[in-house]
Amino acid sequence: MSQQTVLITGASSGIGLELSKKFAAKGYAVVLLARSGARLEQIAEEIRMTFKVQAYAIEADLRLANATTLIAEELERRKLVIDILVNNAGFGLLGAYAVLDAQQQLDMIQVNIMALAGLTRLLLPGMIQRNTGGVLNVASTAAFQAGPNMAVYYATKAFVLSFTEALHEEVAQTKLHVSCLCPGPTETGFVAAANMENVNLFKLGAQSAEEVAEYGYNAFQRNQAIAVSGLKNKFLALSAKLSPKFMTRKIAMVLNR
Ligand SMILES: NC(=O)c1ccc[n+]([C@@H]2O[C@H](COP(=O)([O-])OP(=O)(O)OC[C@H]3O[C@@H](n4cnc5c(N)ncnc54)[C@H](OP(=O)(O)O)[C@@H]3O)[C@@H](O)[C@H]2O)c1
Repeated sequence: MSQQTVLITGASSGIGLELSKKFAAKGYAVVLLARSGARLEQIAEEIRMTFKVQAYAIEADLRLANATTLIAEELERRKLVIDILVNNAGFGLLGAYAVLDAQQQLDMIQVNIMALAGLTRLLLPGMIQRNTGGVLNVASTAAFQAGPNMAVYYATKAFVLSFTEALHEEVAQTKLHVSCLCPGPTETGFVAAANMENVNLFKLGAQSAEEVAEYGYNAFQRNQAIAVSGLKNKFLALSAKLSPKFMTRKIAMVLNR
């Protein structure tokens, strides 16, 4: 699938940045998207120099209700055709639903769900028509159970997992790949942004963003529908599936303290 163009959201740091480098290293042209325009330009330049591929930066805020329309206009203006979409941008917030800022939680739904679904609807028909490419969505092990003290975040990731699994089947008769990457705790800016530095979940150990990206890239290439990164996280996801819900939500409450 080389020589194709990949749009990666949340490419300015963490898992998105590492996925961008991974695709570029394999010869894909990359379109990097995030709010930090200057940082993206710098990363694009580094990618061009290091991997000798085309790299573009698009500054966009996925909290905006019209983000998909603005991105569509920008892609059109630059005559960019996207073969692979990596919906990676996302954020979480630690705290009780009734206490956390109301607007920030709605913004989370906008970024983690609405933008992801909007961009997928924008780009998937073209992929199906060309019968090549696909979508790699980044959910989380949070997708496998309810998450008290991070209620909205866990629910957004449950949406991403369910949505991606469904799309995987819808395009099963095509050459498209559709995968859902589910990382567990990962050392990125996510932790500080979510105010999670001291929670029990992260005390159990975290993977590096590079490890997660490597695993996610390979899972997408083999068209794996659900890809849980790391052995410990695979075990936790499986036990969440097998345990009664009253138990998994109580365990999540303890881990999110
Ligand atoms: N780290 C973990 O423990 C972990 C675990 C499971 C799943 N995940 C998921 O992995 C994905 C990547 O997160 P990460 O861990 O790599 O965290 P990160 O380092 O904080 O990266 C988040 C990325 O999303 C972008 N972003 C955030 N809000 C945005 C907005 N409104 N518009 C456009 N871009 C926005 C950020 O760029 P700007 O700030 O420049 O906009 C940044 O590039 C997320 O979906 C997260 O939920 C993370």
